[in-house]
Amino acid sequence: MLRVDDVTKTFEDGFRALKGVSLNAGRGDFVTLLGPSGCGKTTLLKVVAGFLTPTEGTVSIDGADVTREPPERRDTAMCFQSYALFPHMTVAQNIEFGPRQNRVAKDERLARLNALLTQVDLEAHQHKLPNALSGGQQQRVALARALAMRPGIVLFDEPLSNLDAKLRDQVRIEIRALQREHGFTAIYVTHDQAEALAMSDHVLVMREGAVEQEGAPEEIYTAPRTSFVADFIGAANLLTGTVLGEDGQGRWQVQTEMGTVKVASDEPPVAPSVHVSWRPEDAVLANGSANGSGTGENLIQAPIVARVYQGSFTEYVLDAPERPAVSLRVHATQFGAREGETLAFHVPPDRLRFLEQVAS
Ligand SMILES: Nc1ncnc2c1ncn2[C@@H]1O[C@H](COP(=O)(O)OP(=O)(O)O)[C@@H](O)[C@H]1O
Ligand SMILES: [Mg+2]
Repeated sequence: MLRVDDVTKTFEDGFRALKGVSLNAGRGDFVTLLGPSGCGKTTLLKVVAGFLTPTEGTVSIDGADVTREPPERRDTAMCFQSYALFPHMTVAQNIEFGPRQNRVAKDERLARLNALLTQVDLEAHQHKLPNALSGGQQQRVALARALAMRPGIVLFDEPLSNLDAKLRDQVRIEIRALQREHGFTAIYVTHDQAEALAMSDHVLVMREGAVEQEGAPEEIYTAPRTSFVADFIGAANLLTGTVLGEDGQGRWQVQTEMGTVKVASDEPPVAPSVHVSWRPEDAVLANGSANGSGTGENLIQAPIVARVYQGSFTEYVLDAPERPAVSLRVHATQFGAREGETLAFHVPPDRLRFLEQVAS
């Protein structure tokens, strides 16, 4: 459905916002571009939509090269963070705007309008002006307006970032439901890792104009290849160490600043000096951990420097020779150690992984 091949974008001032980005999305796929502010997400969307022409590379839709085609000649619609609704038009007029421009017959226009008003639950508000609506309602008008054109591809640029947390969750579900109903391909931009993990079939993690890693949400979360990806998608602990050897079964002995640990990895480390990471929630408390005792594989012990209650879990920040400090998440009901006490825990070898690259 959509194919972006090795796209580079250099702006007039010489700034390279995209450095050889490729992307593939099948019909009905939900693909997310995730990355910090300034990494080139919006630039890439604009290249796909036709608002920007790439310096190098191509964009194809349905097998046709559209790199030099204007936006109106592409099967795409854009849905922005700022809604970009026409303030002097009613909800219904906003939704009908595109089909009217395209001279869609009146019956068909009304049929689409009414179906969309029902789908986004705005029938009762169709004669209001946008400024008489809440943020969530305005966002739904913007969605309906994009879908009124029956696009094959909908491009979302941080559409939920102006909504509060509860509403975000709700609109998130609505967007997925609309997608299933209409069958469009979604290219969705966000800097919110939870949103990316919850909504996507496929995630591209972007950094400084390039794709750092891509894959299914589970893959990106459980097997980040670099410290940037590990850190950006959830919390990650990091140890530096030296590989001492392998036991012939894919278990690597690594000397770290917090003791010797075993890492289960099919992939050999890229160099003798390595970085090992794990997710805080993968740590298992050792028996009698309150007083620092306990035995088992990959036992790590360290003093607690901070205890942060988070509701569904408690996070313990431990004193580590290297910063950032090691942290540990446990269910709050499980355990109640205090600052200054020593915590002992295990990290199963298959939960430790080698990183290929560590950001400076
Ligand atoms: N017209 C432009 N001229 C020069 N630099 C630009 C222009 N538009 C965007 N940039 C720069 O390109 C980088 C990527 O921008 P953008 O794609 O908007 O990032 P994101 O959407 O990921 O926050 C930023 O550093 C931004 O300042
Ligand atoms: Mg942006």
